Amino acid sequence: MHIRHFERPFEDVKDLFVISTKNTEYCIGTVYDEGYVSHLYYGKKLNDHDFSGLIRINEYPYGRAGKEREKCSFHDCLSFEYPSHGIGDFREDCLSVETAGGNSACLPLFDSFEIIEGKPKITGLPATFGKKDEVTTLILHCSDKVLKLNVDLIYSSFYDNDVITRSVKISNNADGYIYLKKVYSACLDMDNKDFEALSLHGSWARERHIERTKVTHNKTIIESVRGESSHQDSPFLALTTPDTTQETGEVYAMNFVYSGNFRTGAFLDQFDHIRMFMGIGPEDFKWKLVPGESFETPEVVMTYSDKGLGKMTRSFHDLYREHLIRSPYLHKKRPILINNWEATYFEFDTEKLIAIARQASELGIEMLVMDDGWFGKRDNDSCSLGDWTVNENKLKGGLKYLVDEINKLGMKFGIWFEPEMISPDSDLYRAHPDWAIHIKGREGVRSRNQFVLDLSRKDVCDHIYEQVASILRSANIEYVKWDMNRQLTDIGSAELPADRMGELFHRYVLGVYSLQERLMTEFPNLLLENCSGGGGRFDPGMLYYSPQIWCSDDTDAIERLSIQEGTALVYPLSTMGAHVSDCPNHAVGRTTPFMTRGHVALAGTFGYELDVTRIPKEDVSMIPAQVEEYHRYNDLVREGDYYRLASYSANHTYDLYGVVSKDKREALFTFVQVLGSVNRKSRRIYFRGLDPELRYRIDENERTYTGDMLMNAGYLIPEIHGDFVSILIHMEVYDG
Ligand code: GLA
Repeated sequence: MHIRHFERPFEDVKDLFVISTKNTEYCIGTVYDEGYVSHLYYGKKLNDHDFSGLIRINEYPYGRAGKEREKCSFHDCLSFEYPSHGIGDFREDCLSVETAGGNSACLPLFDSFEIIEGKPKITGLPATFGKKDEVTTLILHCSDKVLKLNVDLIYSSFYDNDVITRSVKISNNADGYIYLKKVYSACLDMDNKDFEALSLHGSWARERHIERTKVTHNKTIIESVRGESSHQDSPFLALTTPDTTQETGEVYAMNFVYSGNFRTGAFLDQFDHIRMFMGIGPEDFKWKLVPGESFETPEVVMTYSDKGLGKMTRSFHDLYREHLIRSPYLHKKRPILINNWEATYFEFDTEKLIAIARQASELGIEMLVMDDGWFGKRDNDSCSLGDWTVNENKLKGGLKYLVDEINKLGMKFGIWFEPEMISPDSDLYRAHPDWAIHIKGREGVRSRNQFVLDLSRKDVCDHIYEQVASILRSANIEYVKWDMNRQLTDIGSAELPADRMGELFHRYVLGVYSLQERLMTEFPNLLLENCSGGGGRFDPGMLYYSPQIWCSDDTDAIERLSIQEGTALVYPLSTMGAHVSDCPNHAVGRTTPFMTRGHVALAGTFGYELDVTRIPKEDVSMIPAQVEEYHRYNDLVREGDYYRLASYSANHTYDLYGVVSKDKREALFTFVQVLGSVNRKSRRIYFRGLDPELRYRIDENERTYTGDMLMNAGYLIPEIHGDFVSILIHMEVYDG
């Protein structure tokens, strides 16, 4: 059993729960007989669970000890599993309500528990899943007796992955309604170990840059209030001890399986204990829970590593590949695509697309993706979102003709949509202005000239779904890029009553999920790539529906190093949409060698974002070799273990990362020399993840070395000249 219950294992604790994974353990105790659910331990697996000397139950400055103690100071210090509002725990809490009488206090205490093999679904939300022998679930049934509010704390152990997931289900058993004003999904109260907070910060075209700050008494808050998980902040937080590197140090990490507003953070309390939390962003959130109804929170994926960030990364990668992404493409090579966005922007027609596809197919590219601009009267970004009818002035002969022609070239066909949006200049908006998220009487704030559709409404979702689906039914379309190019403002829905307006942000996300679920149910073999102005919604929630997400609108190979490093810290390489684009790069104006652009894109799904009929001939001539490299290495890149060896964002000179196959018989490392320098010795690097006992043959110099040598004595990178240059180092076990 990976979850065990011990009754009265020692004084002060009535029930002890031990949630185990292969290398970690998470322990919870119900304190005294009063039913406080208290956190006891999270970390390396233990061989003893006698925490009796470790509960600070009698350490209070005021009042008497034991059960007669003074409750307020007790609440303000206990390590709570799920702290609540208004009862004397003055730290950031996880649960806050508003009763019909206007009160906010709440104190859920333990009633009973269940341990079940497998993992229950979370209604309407993406979540990790597993078979009965892969995951075990503990449900702690708690309740606030005054409010008649049931609070289920749900923990699932993915034993082999060293991951514990957490979510909460709140049910109203009273006769009247209650509002939930804050419902986080997870909290972790621990003693401080000089922790630093590591998060992924960014902006448009600059997503997921790694940031590390010391955790102090000032709250570190990472959040999105933008309606999507956002370019600016990612729903991820890791606490690391100061010595943490890729290989060493302790890491406590949380990642949120959610694509909307979130809040996560950490801080030290008055006793220098640390509290870490994660959940739906409470700003603008207020959920009316009527009698008999439940609210289920999205889940938090939590992992602990005592072997640095590398171990954390590999736990996330394996979990997402094995227990989150459902696409039939997950373990398959994705077709190498060519997308016409940076090639043509809005200026294309059937002839142009066929010309690109014809040349691309000769070079080994396997799919043409038609991006923005094929519908309504959209020749720029000022109109037509919502009017998903083919513009036959551009696509002469219609969509089916184009798709058939592309198929005749032996290529697949993919298409771009932005289903969540509505342009004020669209037939849809003229017919249904109230379908946009808006506040009556207030001029809506436009962003990229568009508004957001009110996906909390079923009629809106149904209409949009039919629009998208009928296009997909009309031709042999095998890929969809689902884009989302603005964040939410003017939060108002024409349908929701005033006391439910605080539900709009969350209902919007539920609407997005329901649409994608429907899409994947009707078109199970569709390759879906999510996107949000690049990587503005790169989160585990979206990965439940699509096996890949467009990483960033910044396609410059050098800028991509940091973006892909931050992304791959949490998400598998198989999920990172990465393409080779033309130079000077449209985003930063930098010119990099075509080979480097290829090497950097090989770390993701791989494709092209350029006009193959117009780029320099030398670049064109390199495509077949790049295509071959993709076919040679993609199984390894997609399925292997990722190792980060050096980071350009930290050393400002070079980048180095690699992938080692699960059986350790093959590895591919990518070295990018960002800035060249003169009069230096060759650079010695130390590989990781190899089997010390095995002998590897390195392709480029045909020499063999033991894994032990390569990891401990190192390897000399051959002299390479210039800036922005890269090499691939591929090795396989040498049995000769
Ligand atoms: C977003 C996407 C781009 C492209 C444009 C089209 O910015 O990230 O890749 O599809 O929209 O408008």
